[in-house]
Amino acid sequence: MSTREFDIYTDGACSGNPGPGGWAAVITEGDNSREISGFEERTTNQRMELKAAVEALRAVPPGSRVRLFSDSAYLVNCFNQGWIKRWQNNGWLTGKGQPVENQDLWRELLELSRDIKVEWIKVKGHSTDRINQRCDYLARGAITAANENGNPAEEAGTGEGNVRQGRGTISGPGPKTTGFSANCNANGMRRLGLLTGGGDCPGLNAVIRAVVKGATYNYNLEVVGFNNGFRGLVENDAALIDDFAVSGILNRGGTILGTSNRDNPFDFRPGGSSDYRETDNDRSGDAVENLKKWGIECLVVIGGDGSLLLAHRFSKLGVPVIGIPKTIDNDLPATDVTFGFDSAVTTATDAIDKIHTTAESHHRVMVVEVMGRNAGWIALQAGMAGGGDIILIPEIPFEYQHIVDKIMERNSRGKKFSIIVAAEGAHPAGGEPIYQAKGDVKRLGGISSVIAREIEKRTDMESRATVLGHLQRGGSPTSYDRVLATRFGVKAVELFREGKYNEMVCLRGYDIESAPLEEAVAGTKRVDPSSEQVRAALAVGTSFGCPI
Ligand code: F6P
Repeated sequence: MSTREFDIYTDGACSGNPGPGGWAAVITEGDNSREISGFEERTTNQRMELKAAVEALRAVPPGSRVRLFSDSAYLVNCFNQGWIKRWQNNGWLTGKGQPVENQDLWRELLELSRDIKVEWIKVKGHSTDRINQRCDYLARGAITAANENGNPAEEAGTGEGNVRQGRGTISGPGPKTTGFSANCNANGMRRLGLLTGGGDCPGLNAVIRAVVKGATYNYNLEVVGFNNGFRGLVENDAALIDDFAVSGILNRGGTILGTSNRDNPFDFRPGGSSDYRETDNDRSGDAVENLKKWGIECLVVIGGDGSLLLAHRFSKLGVPVIGIPKTIDNDLPATDVTFGFDSAVTTATDAIDKIHTTAESHHRVMVVEVMGRNAGWIALQAGMAGGGDIILIPEIPFEYQHIVDKIMERNSRGKKFSIIVAAEGAHPAGGEPIYQAKGDVKRLGGISSVIAREIEKRTDMESRATVLGHLQRGGSPTSYDRVLATRFGVKAVELFREGKYNEMVCLRGYDIESAPLEEAVAGTKRVDPSSEQVRAALAVGTSFGCPI
């Protein structure tokens, strides 16, 4: 007797916790087609996808060969990468030693696939494939029936043809969409909002990609992207971002969403300005309304201290928020590292390497000014990596005489050039940082020229200043930042799934964790002058321009 062959499409539709979730499968054998669907109370989308697969496999005879098409990358990976077998061998514990979720279904699936040869195939979520769409429609029909009628499951399912109904009962009508409650929006899918705020940095696109792919591939969520940071939120300049939109952007600098470090919804001005004068033009209410219009349950803010502070203010208005820490400055507390930092350090190190060769040729003192605002992380790390002779950071005020002494000491050893790496916020002891003269906005910059002039005055050596500026914010992220950004983005989606709001994802040691937003926006993380890192630099002869 020849083996019977089936194609099965499955779908588990949005549950809108705590409510019913729908599952459905379309089973075809040659020209014959059969549809099954049902729902389960207080469930998750992932469980419903799994349920659909179990119910579908139950419906085919043992000894069959099945091609099972699913839009859940997670489910397909569980099989194709042997995770289920690993869990089974591990006493149904995950790699982290926690009990595997939905164990009942996994066990049954394993049992069923003993007698049925199953090939698992990932399809693109919500593809235009007719059977895929049909399946999605059936699963959503099951939810609608449950929500609207409070029907027992036997009456759920709106599919045509040979529809087998689900089992179980539900206790009443499901929840309706209101404000930020955890419900599905009009098309039955839960929605996340996403924006990038503040100065850009390499890795923003990598995070956007991770949030969108993490949300759509694994959880059937939709992501709404707001353009140009908080400005887009106030002006409702937004669009749905699907996985196609984020394809090919992992290595691209900048942000496909655009950003702004000038727009504060609580003090908003149409032209955008960051001088922080109070205008009494609070548009935060419009921002909140726009979130509601889109049916967004949670806003993911990718930003530095300013944007996360705004996110925190929105959380106080009742908006569920999740933060992702970005900045080249690496100055956010509650995370060991922000993404963007490694790329900026790499760019600065590369520049210092180049400055090195010309400094040596001309016997000059070269002062390289790097960004970082009031924290010296970029100067410290790029200075160490680039072999800077003198590193000047805001946390350790310098004295000109010490800088000159170091240069002269090098000269006496035959080193007729010196490299100084100065943070833009560095300043002499008892002095103030240098700000650019332009406009109302106080912007750091210019210390390198001041230092170079002072060195020429105090020595007979030529000195030049180079300001790296926005080069440090541009270009492709390093591999470290791509990985960190991806891990941060995926973790943000997981926090949403767990309903863990008003948190910021963070790196602690090697682990991705989360911390309360409150903690994340409290103050600035600065270099500790007595840290091991500073001591290591001192130990190899680097001067910090003062006696320490
Ligand atoms: O915070 C990132 C940063 O690049 C700082 O290092 C720098 O001081 C500032 O932004 C520059 O801002 P802008 O892009 O407005 O010139």
